[in-house]
Amino acid sequence: MAGFIEKKNILSAGGVSLEDIAREHGTPTYIYSADHIRGQFEALKGAMAKALPKNKQPLLCYACKANSNVAVLSLLNGIGSGLEIVSEGELRRGLKAGFDPQKIVSTGVGKQRSEIEACLNAGIRQFNVESLPELEFIDKIAREMKKKAPVVFRLNPDVSGGGHSKISTGRKRDKFGLSADGVFRAYTMAKTMKNVEPLGLSIHIGSQVFDVKAFEKAFAKLPALVGDLRKEGFTVARLDIGGGFPIQYNDEKLLDLDAYAAWVRDIIVPLDTEIVMEPGRYLVGNSGALLTKVLYVKETQDRNFLVLDAAMNDLIRPTLYEAYHAIEPVKNRNAAKKVYDVVGPVCETGDTFGTDREIPEVREGDLVVIRSAGAYGFSMASNYNTRPLPAEIMVDGDQSALIRPRQSYNDIIDQDIVPAWLKR
Ligand SMILES: Cc1ncc(COP(=O)(O)O)c(C=O)c1O
Repeated sequence: MAGFIEKKNILSAGGVSLEDIAREHGTPTYIYSADHIRGQFEALKGAMAKALPKNKQPLLCYACKANSNVAVLSLLNGIGSGLEIVSEGELRRGLKAGFDPQKIVSTGVGKQRSEIEACLNAGIRQFNVESLPELEFIDKIAREMKKKAPVVFRLNPDVSGGGHSKISTGRKRDKFGLSADGVFRAYTMAKTMKNVEPLGLSIHIGSQVFDVKAFEKAFAKLPALVGDLRKEGFTVARLDIGGGFPIQYNDEKLLDLDAYAAWVRDIIVPLDTEIVMEPGRYLVGNSGALLTKVLYVKETQDRNFLVLDAAMNDLIRPTLYEAYHAIEPVKNRNAAKKVYDVVGPVCETGDTFGTDREIPEVREGDLVVIRSAGAYGFSMASNYNTRPLPAEIMVDGDQSALIRPRQSYNDIIDQDIVPAWLKR
């Protein structure tokens, strides 16, 4: 697990003891390795630098739905990343982290008035437009604000990609993007509009895309379309080729970054546009672990259950996507192995992190990490069962810092309002 090291049979985060973190901040707590995030960013940037000409280097816009803690955003901003956002909240976080608005792209099928206004006020790089009504709405708002909105049109390439049906976004039946015809209609409509400026296309086929050929298949749809659009006199100066790069949760075969970069070089570069990419999971997924404590070891006739103090509200991926996350004890890592079902306390059978997991024997009170939890972990956490959101810690070499405190019960409960007419 990158950023996490095993020494003398104990797992630590960089030079920081996980036991110390648990003692000081309690559990469950998310821990992210700054080193790992930097390493991933440099690996992706490096693969592109090697394969693509200097003047065609992509702008890497971190898709912060994966992990939007402002400390994570600040780290990425500091090393030259741009930002992909899907909401006004993410825009606000990005601006707070110091991102240049010209490096921010706004995506999503349901952009609302307030977020379009906020993006126009900030002066973002572009809106990735997903439908004709959205185009009309952006034009209308920009007109009211006396601004011109830079837009690119998201092509739905009808290519299946993504590690799970729920995170595949490039099939014809998915809600995302426009068909090639739709893109033509959007460009044609935009000709009649004064407050949008069409600049190109975007594409994003899904997340955790294992089938690396899917990227090539999707990219291959672009040259003909770009050629046809240009023949009609439409501007195609930008191509946003999305995210979706997979990470290793278990024993998956990783994307060959060099092969990916070669497709970008062979298919995208000849189209002579600016290039944007939107990696999310790849940059942060394996930087993180969810540190949790064993509440009980419950042995029944059929199963051994490890009941953790983390639950599906803290990390929903296993139950939502049937996702695999490795689970490991922090100490006694070479104890004899035992088979467990690893579960949380929530009253649903779906609150299960892993079934039939063979791991070194653990006891009540022991610390356990759920690995690869840096992406779509905290950012998808909820207050289900009135459980406070976990704390978040960033580790960088020998130093660590609390980057978000554990939510308090008052934070949650004080939001509820009992109507006066119910009070006696
Ligand atoms: C438009 C868009 N871009 C980028 C991403 C990031 O995907 P990933 O985290 O797989 O790189 C997503 C994920 O849902 C997305 O919808």
